[in-house]
Amino acid sequence: MMDTLVSEKPVAARLADPCTLVIFGAAGDLTKRLLIPALYNLVNDGLLPDEFAVIGVARAEMSAEDLRQNLGDALKQFATTKVAAAKAKWLLNRVDYVQGDFGDPGAYQRLKERLARNGGNHLFYLATPPAAFSLVIEGLGEAGMTRDEKNGWRRLIIEKPFGTDLASAKELDRELLRYFDEKQIFRIDHYLGKETVQNIMVMRFANGLFEPIWNRDHIDHVQITVAETVNVESRGGFYDATGALRDMVPNHLFQLLAMTSMGPPNCFGADAVRSEKAKVLDAVRRMTPADVAKNVVRAQYTDGIVNGKPVVAYREAPDVAPHSTAETYVAMRLMIDNWRWAGVPFYLRTGKALAVRKSIIAIKFRQPPIALFRDVPEAIPADNFLVLRIQPDEGVTLEFNAKVPGEDMRIGHVRMDFQYRDYFRASPSTGYETLIYDCMIGDQTLFQRADNVEVGWSVVQPILDAWRRNKGKGLAFYQAGSEGPAEADALLARDGRAWRPLT
Ligand code: BG6
Repeated sequence: MMDTLVSEKPVAARLADPCTLVIFGAAGDLTKRLLIPALYNLVNDGLLPDEFAVIGVARAEMSAEDLRQNLGDALKQFATTKVAAAKAKWLLNRVDYVQGDFGDPGAYQRLKERLARNGGNHLFYLATPPAAFSLVIEGLGEAGMTRDEKNGWRRLIIEKPFGTDLASAKELDRELLRYFDEKQIFRIDHYLGKETVQNIMVMRFANGLFEPIWNRDHIDHVQITVAETVNVESRGGFYDATGALRDMVPNHLFQLLAMTSMGPPNCFGADAVRSEKAKVLDAVRRMTPADVAKNVVRAQYTDGIVNGKPVVAYREAPDVAPHSTAETYVAMRLMIDNWRWAGVPFYLRTGKALAVRKSIIAIKFRQPPIALFRDVPEAIPADNFLVLRIQPDEGVTLEFNAKVPGEDMRIGHVRMDFQYRDYFRASPSTGYETLIYDCMIGDQTLFQRADNVEVGWSVVQPILDAWRRNKGKGLAFYQAGSEGPAEADALLARDGRAWRPLT
């Protein structure tokens, strides 16, 4: 291993602005599993000021003490680092509770009165099921709680799913903009909280090495894979109405696509970065129904074995319709019609109940123009791949050819590997720390602007339309625990290419 030369903590991190974080859905899963552990990590890093406070809002009848107790238990269960009692106490002592139904104007009045005692800045976090988004936005707006005041800012974090198609995403944006200004809205895509996703930008733009070859002249194609081992579990109700395409593609996979394919922004500013991302997604070719049939694979898992454990077929999972045609896997071939990428296919795939959990971006470079070594026995020059490993086992691999030592000329395929954990002593995190902290300091770079969300949906919409029209015809199947359906292999084979094996 080479020298480790890196600091653990963000160098320039300053204290977050003093604020009261209001969590709608404080009794829910997201709060327990991710928000509280993330807040604890911010306390641990010394990034929250003394004037920080949390107010939970939920329907449940409980006292502030009950909520503190629940969140304390959740912290014990889900913390990503060892919990120090004094720091947990610091955080939990700042938690209060307001009970209320999200549709009840009285709840917002009570919240408003409670917030008036804290004064200062207010950060509203929508950690609720999507059905409640509009209610809360309107409730806050009608209670006059959403406009920046002289003595403090008002900001809103909204979770995915941001709409279920282009029209509903636009509608949600209209509702938000009735009460909030774009500068106050922080649309979360938790993939942007992942260090390795942010690193794509650093790798590309903080090095002189890659950018000159990052284009159609040198790149043959790009593969983006987000493979999961988890199955639908207890989310059947949500998932059956959603499917893999809506759940993963316009948001998480398109983040990876945009980070990989965008042009260099003028600076590392929120609007500069988000404009480049919107621009490249806008250049993705929209599909006709015939393109969809040819370039998109939808599939569903049948029963099988994942990580040594039996998994029942998707259609037999709780709350899933017995003849459901919802896809648990999707693969597609996209073209980006701009100067940099014309003619370079981007292949995307994501699915549940697959053989391994693995998210990677694999960039294949073109072959050298002259087969200089064509007479070398067994010389089949291997592909030059640059592989960005997003999770797990984060790092970067470069694959190339080298001479096998010896008197004769033989060519071997070698790998140069960079592993994050060899160089950086990062403490494990939930990925939400950066996002919550950035919102508290008003930095929108890692959040989706309205046009980013809408352009993502506009690429996916023709696929949704085509599928709706053909009512599940063409749904493929794959065994749980496999690498996905044969149809996805055929999608690349048609172009004379192949997916990188998952295992
Ligand atoms: C969520 C999806 O947004 O992302 C889930 O709703 C999916 O279905 C999850 O499992 C994947 O996130 P991660 O961080 O585990 O890759």
